[in-house]
Order: sequence, then structure tokens, then C-alpha cells
Amino acid sequence: MVTLRINGREHQLDGLDPEMPLLWALRDHLGLTGTRFGCGKGQCGACTIHVDGKATRACMYPIGSLGERTVTTIEGLASQADQALQDAWVEHQVPQCGYCQAGQIMTAAELLANNPTPDDEAIDTAMSGNLCRCGTYQRIRAAIKTAAIKTAGAKR
Ligand code: FES
Ligand code: FES
Repeated sequence: MVTLRINGREHQLDGLDPEMPLLWALRDHLGLTGTRFGCGKGQCGACTIHVDGKATRACMYPIGSLGERTVTTIEGLASQADQALQDAWVEHQVPQCGYCQAGQIMTAAELLANNPTPDDEAIDTAMSGNLCRCGTYQRIRAAIKTAAIKTAGAKR
């Protein structure tokens, strides 16, 4: 029996190999298909989720290693900054095919949680591991800046 703490809920899954990547458990056993399978090798960022708030590749994380750690997926982003981020993604019409975008938003959410006013260099550094075959990088950067401004304004 493995207990997974996902988006504020506990899920108990029976009979799964502890070495199963979290990505498989999310998509195939919990129906959380917002997290995407891209390369399956930790190289593209499409499967990015948060483990205890840290952006993590779900394709490389065995469920048996989670222990008490909590997981947030794209379906569970809930803070004010997260909402601003998702609104900014719509405002800037960031997605093209959309495949990489859940992972992009999860990485951006971690960035804004740690650095609410990132400059271009900080954005590029944080986002460098998330690949986009459609080349939406400029819109991603613009959306992160918009979200940062809106979140900072809301706190005043
Ligand atoms: S699918 Fe996990 S990094 Fe590409
Ligand atoms: S929007 Fe198509 S891969 Fe990023």
C-alpha cells in the first residue's frame, strides 16, 4: 500500500511497484492527466509537478520515495500567484500546441514562490529546463512578468 498526498487529498494505492514513476500513478491510477508525458527521461520538463513546493520531474520520481511529502499538480495550483500566473497565460495566449504548458506553469509557479519579481535572467535560468517544441519562450517570459506585476499589485 502506498499513500500519496496529492493536491490536499490522500490517496491509498494498492499493489503498485514502489519504483513506479509518480507520473504513471498520477495519470494512470488517479486520472490526473494534466501532467504530461514527454521524454520520460527527465529531460523535457513536460511532467513537472511540485513535491513539497519544489519543481520536480514526475517521470523520474519513484512513488516509494515520496514518504510524507506532498505533491501538487497543475490541477492543484491554488495560491493567488498561481491564479495570476494562469490568468497571464491566457492573457498572453502562451500555448501553441499546449503539450509542454502544464510543466511550464508548474516551473513558473515555483519561480514566483521563491522570487516574486524575477528579471529576465532569473526567468530564463528558472525556465531553462522546460522545453517547448513550439518556441513559446517569449510569451512565457511575458506572462511570468505580468503575473509577477499583478501579484505584487494585489499585495499592496
Ligand atoms: S517527461 Fe519527465 S522530463 Fe520529460
Ligand atoms: S506549446 Fe507546443 S510544445 Fe510548447
